[in-house]
Amino acid sequence: DTYALILAGGSGTRFWPLSRNSKPKQLLDLFGTGTLLEQTIRRLEGLVPLENILILTNELQVDAVREIASMLPAENIFAEPAKRDTAPAVALGIGLVAARNPDAVMMVLPSDQLIQDTAAYHSVMRDALATAEKSDGLVTIGIRPTWACPSYGYIERGVPAVIEGLECANPPVEVSRFREKPAPELAEQFLAEGNFSWNAGMFVWSLPTVIEQLAKYSPQLADFISVLRDAPDLVATVATEFPKLTPISIDYALMENADRVLNIEATFDWDDVGSWISIAKYLENYGEENRANEAITQSDSQNNIIFNARPGTRVALLGVDDLIVVQTGDALLIANRHQADSIKKLSDLLPKEL
Ligand code: GDD
Ligand code: MG
Repeated sequence: DTYALILAGGSGTRFWPLSRNSKPKQLLDLFGTGTLLEQTIRRLEGLVPLENILILTNELQVDAVREIASMLPAENIFAEPAKRDTAPAVALGIGLVAARNPDAVMMVLPSDQLIQDTAAYHSVMRDALATAEKSDGLVTIGIRPTWACPSYGYIERGVPAVIEGLECANPPVEVSRFREKPAPELAEQFLAEGNFSWNAGMFVWSLPTVIEQLAKYSPQLADFISVLRDAPDLVATVATEFPKLTPISIDYALMENADRVLNIEATFDWDDVGSWISIAKYLENYGEENRANEAITQSDSQNNIIFNARPGTRVALLGVDDLIVVQTGDALLIANRHQADSIKKLSDLLPKEL
């Protein structure tokens, strides 16, 4: 029995003014091809039955999530009562799946990535599920790194994993080290060593394995899961117990410490579309379909990333280079393209309602 837990409760301000706390990256239709969350759900077709797909989000986003995920049973969408990062969210998800089948194999999936080759994705995830079912490992998916990005997890790929009875096209290897968000110098070093992959942020494990590992390395979360198991009223228990959990991501809470981490290399395209810069290439690709890209005129201007999401208006540029210009119904951003990663900083200065 296979389950998928989609994490859709991250807040995002990197795409301000398009993204807001109530509308982060995964809830945006950036390219006119559906939101990243919707694409994440659709990508599971043929891999996981709809009734086994659960989504965790927060109160601020739950209405938007329900609308996007209307193909799922309503009881599969939950709002966390407080923002506690991904480890508590994953623990809650484990508890919810365990209530349905304590021996299930589950995937944990982020909702903020762009993946287009669904066939290759299915092939890799099927093998990850088989690996998790037949071993005591926590299975990760590796992305071949292209630069020393400090905002990813790094996975050191070791020897081929020996797993009895496993036959698959994408064979797993043992992971000798999992290091979340290393400092830039360390990321450089990992890249130079050559045997590191980026962590795709997807995890596949069997419930007995992950619960045993949490008991060892994150007892607070294991306790929370067992409290949920015994709860007469699950919603009430979540409301009182979840806010008590320490905010931490699953990468730090579990993956860096776990006894046996396995890795399968992704054969599909993968982009975590982290900033306006990484969106630029898709805006060009999707130019025709992208409504937001229509009302733009440029002359003597180069290397600008322009996103006009205000219907009935036009953005025109003359003699300026290297800008990010984003127009929405209530805000206009003009930024230096080289500061795309600092747009977060702006959000601290903005009035709350923006
Ligand atoms: N339900 C819920 N609750 N979801 C959350 C929460 C939360 O409190 N916080 C984040 N999420 C969701 C995000 O929406 C996203 O889909 C996913 O969980 C991952 O969280 P991020 O905050 O985006 O993590 P990250 O990108 O910094 O790092 C992770 O992903 C990288 C790849 O994109 C790590 O797993 C890295 O190791 C990995 O390289
Ligand atoms: Mg992310």
